[in-house]
Amino acid sequence: MPWVAIVSAAIMWIILLFLFNKETAPEPVVVDPAVVANISKEWPTLGKQVFGSACAGCHGAEGQGGVGPKLAGDGKIVKDPVYVHTMIVKGKGGMPAQSQLKENEVYAVANYVLHSWGNNIEEPLTPAQVAEGQTKIDPAVLKNRSRFVPEDLKLIEIFLATFIMVLLTYGLIGLYSVWAEGLELHPGIHKVRSTPLATMGILTTMALTVLFGVLFVRQMVTDFAGWGAKEAVAPNVTAEGFYAAMILLMLAASIGLYKKYFMDGEVLVEDASGEFPW
Ligand code: HEC
Repeated sequence: MPWVAIVSAAIMWIILLFLFNKETAPEPVVVDPAVVANISKEWPTLGKQVFGSACAGCHGAEGQGGVGPKLAGDGKIVKDPVYVHTMIVKGKGGMPAQSQLKENEVYAVANYVLHSWGNNIEEPLTPAQVAEGQTKIDPAVLKNRSRFVPEDLKLIEIFLATFIMVLLTYGLIGLYSVWAEGLELHPGIHKVRSTPLATMGILTTMALTVLFGVLFVRQMVTDFAGWGAKEAVAPNVTAEGFYAAMILLMLAASIGLYKKYFMDGEVLVEDASGEFPW
């Protein structure tokens, strides 16, 4: 039974990752030969016209900026022209996706921006470059994904994550209780079965609890001092969290060992049917 809970949690975790990745996976780009053929011809005229009607209101007629950032002399977009395409098609933050533009208009205006006001790319941006560029994952997205922290959580993801935690905890408690008490409860007096190894184990975990306690307090003192100093130093939250987690873990391990090997004379009055279902 505990394994059922743990395996279900793992399956849900995979579904959860699938949900996250679906959000961040790039859409395939279909390369339309008619659009490609006209890009160089169209951008100086059509591009300028589209920019005037769709972008200038926010970015300024000369790309000098306004509500939107300055596009003139923008080294970032010259280095990564595909980004301009992504911005136009997907939008971001205060910039709405320009979904009213036809595909050729998107390439025309992107190339107009990439060739104007000090911006200069050698070859015009083409669908092939966009297709290639989109297979590379944005490092910011990658960072989020590797930490399993998407930009925003949907209700279903919160629901799944909560369920995973509940199942995992349930499974782990079950595994522990099988280990500590056996698959079936035997009502009666619990007899001590301590071994030298268990004694070593409990002493080690107790010593480690104290050690991590000392390290935690020391870290907190350092961090408070750094925080209050004239030139404030950022607290080392990772170390604090690690020590705190280790204190709890070591404490749990020594309590577990105590319960299995050292707790004498516990009277188990319940019968097996009244216990957890495993
Ligand atoms: C409603 C206002 C608005 C319109 C219309 C608009 N933009 Fe933007 N644009 C923004 C804002 C705001 C940002 C900054 C978004 C962010 O980074 O969060 C931005 C960012 C950009 C960037 C990225 C600049 C950089 O250096 O990061 C590009 C490129 C861009 N827009 C191009 C365009 C083009 C081309 C059009 C027209 C097809 C357009 N925008 C239309 C508001 C707008």
